[in-house]
Amino acid sequence: MNQELSEQINNVKSVLEARLSTLEDKRSILRSVELKALYEQIKTLPDENKAAYGQAVNELRQQLSQLVAESESSAQALSAIDVSAPFAINSTKDRRPGLLPANSGSEHPIMSEQAKILDIFKGMGFSVVESREIDDDWHMFGALNFPEGHPARDHYDTFMTTQTDVNGKQWIAPAHTSTMQNRILEHYKPDLENGSPIAVVIPGRVFRNEDVDARHEHTFYQMEGVYVGENVSIGNLIATLKVFLESYYEAEIKVKTQPFYFPFTEPSLEFSMSCPFCNQAGCRVCSYSGWIEMLGCGMIHPNVLKFAGIDASKYQGFAWGCGIERFIMLKHGIEDIRLFESGRLDFLRQFSLGGGGEQ
Ligand code: DAH
Repeated sequence: MNQELSEQINNVKSVLEARLSTLEDKRSILRSVELKALYEQIKTLPDENKAAYGQAVNELRQQLSQLVAESESSAQALSAIDVSAPFAINSTKDRRPGLLPANSGSEHPIMSEQAKILDIFKGMGFSVVESREIDDDWHMFGALNFPEGHPARDHYDTFMTTQTDVNGKQWIAPAHTSTMQNRILEHYKPDLENGSPIAVVIPGRVFRNEDVDARHEHTFYQMEGVYVGENVSIGNLIATLKVFLESYYEAEIKVKTQPFYFPFTEPSLEFSMSCPFCNQAGCRVCSYSGWIEMLGCGMIHPNVLKFAGIDASKYQGFAWGCGIERFIMLKHGIEDIRLFESGRLDFLRQFSLGGGGEQ
């Protein structure tokens, strides 16, 4: 091979080696125009030069391949990530929104507001029992006085497993915290019979096959309340909820009930409060009606007490069920329920202790 050809190859070699360090996709060096041009030149050369020249270009290609392989294996060693680190540490590209030091994380607003709500009820003498995230047909429906085939079962858009329990019934992701009523009533029945009323609130996560929009989520939080004793009236129910709402919204409110239907309460009520944000003058929150619908409630149906072995001729009770997100949305002017599960830091940081400033 003549001097000129080997110089040509050496020039390309140094150009490509220098370029390699700057390339993100190292392997693309093997497709570079300079290397291609060297190969293309083979057919233009006199026959006696072709073999030696072709071999030299192949060697160059091999050397480059070797360099690419080496850089790939060292890149792999480097790219092992620390799974316990704040996410941005592991990113070589876009480091925003930046490192998240442990001290600027914060409790999720659902958890912190739920704690406030529970505190109010604890102050009123209620105990707290958590609900569960998988349940059976009996607790979701049967024990709540929804007989087999009852049309109200369909209102709950329940998620069910394909697997069945010993009774051949599908397991259910609870669509309301009322699934806990029967357990609570059975558990506290001895105390009731010893003269202590049952007073329990039950927070929990619930699931419905909803079309998701600004007001509906498939996964959300509810809180159930159950109170059973002697001489319990609907007046006790209304007073309990009014005291709670005044305490949570830190305002004096009026309340209003309308008849409704639930199989597990009789009578059943829809419970509204006067708008604490405009004093009923009319605002966006209450849709200029002065009233906001808050929850469903009622006097516990005698069948529900009987299913738990409680003497419904001696004891009466009331119950309610409410959506936690709805309470929080109203209190903080949040307009889209999807924000809660969105993982959006700008949303969550507004609830951190320091008001969520820069980290
Ligand atoms: N479980 C009902 C729901 O999710 C809410 C409810 C209404 C619960 C009335 C109650 C009640 O305990 O008494 O729609």
